Amino acid sequence: MLEKIKQTTTYVQQKTNFEPEIGIILGTGLGGLATEIDTEYEIEYNEIPNFPVSTVEGHSGKLILGTLAGKKVIALKGRFHYYEGYSMQEVTFPVRVFKFLGIKTLIVSNAAGGMNPNFVVGDIMVINDHINLFPEHPLRGQNHEKLGPRFPDMSAVYNKNYIKKVFEIAKEKNIKLQQGVYAGIQGPTFETPAEYKYIYKLGADAVGMSTVPETTVAHHMSIPIFAVSIITDSGVPGEIVEISHEEVQEVAKKAEPNMTLLIKELIKSL
Ligand code: HPA
Repeated sequence: MLEKIKQTTTYVQQKTNFEPEIGIILGTGLGGLATEIDTEYEIEYNEIPNFPVSTVEGHSGKLILGTLAGKKVIALKGRFHYYEGYSMQEVTFPVRVFKFLGIKTLIVSNAAGGMNPNFVVGDIMVINDHINLFPEHPLRGQNHEKLGPRFPDMSAVYNKNYIKKVFEIAKEKNIKLQQGVYAGIQGPTFETPAEYKYIYKLGADAVGMSTVPETTVAHHMSIPIFAVSIITDSGVPGEIVEISHEEVQEVAKKAEPNMTLLIKELIKSL
């Protein structure tokens, strides 16, 4: 794995000669932030050695390198989900490469169902902790001490300073912001009402099919993380309605301007 990471890193470095400070993973319907990047290089995933190829509708796959809010960023436009059939090593491979390229911060966004009754559809929730409900762990297998410890501490995965900063920005910009615990499940089914209830009882405020693998691996490599969910549908008893991937994307799109603003301002402050 180490060889593959180094090979891919060298490929990107030789192609771009670009040193990103911040890595961004753009989730469902949040591609809008990508248009804000003053792009210097774009590389299709299928051109990148060792990179998996994205398959889901609505997730085009390319790596974007450029400037956002005065900082050098590298962004994944289209992420790799476990439900697509990738191994956890494949899902998290780009994050490993980001680290080797030198990022000092990882920013991740996603769409999620909200079980917390104080949430409404369209809310933005800052992730302050997670519950890993995936059936496979991204750090299972041989550990390379060069990447991180065998038994990583998980007491503070989501950087508290970033969270504080984003709440300050939200207050200043008059943006409603929630925070809570994100449960990562494998999908591809959305939850049954009983499952939403179960996951809420476990202690999660929102649930989705991504993020936990990537943030776990980023944390393994000591990268400070900011992660955020758009609540695209309700998992509150009595409020659950039929949903589709398209509706999830539609709601995410509506929250996009506020999301973009928050993340841009956070990046500016780093
Ligand atoms: N459950 C799981 N994943 C999701 C959901 C949900 O309700 N909404 C968006 N992604």
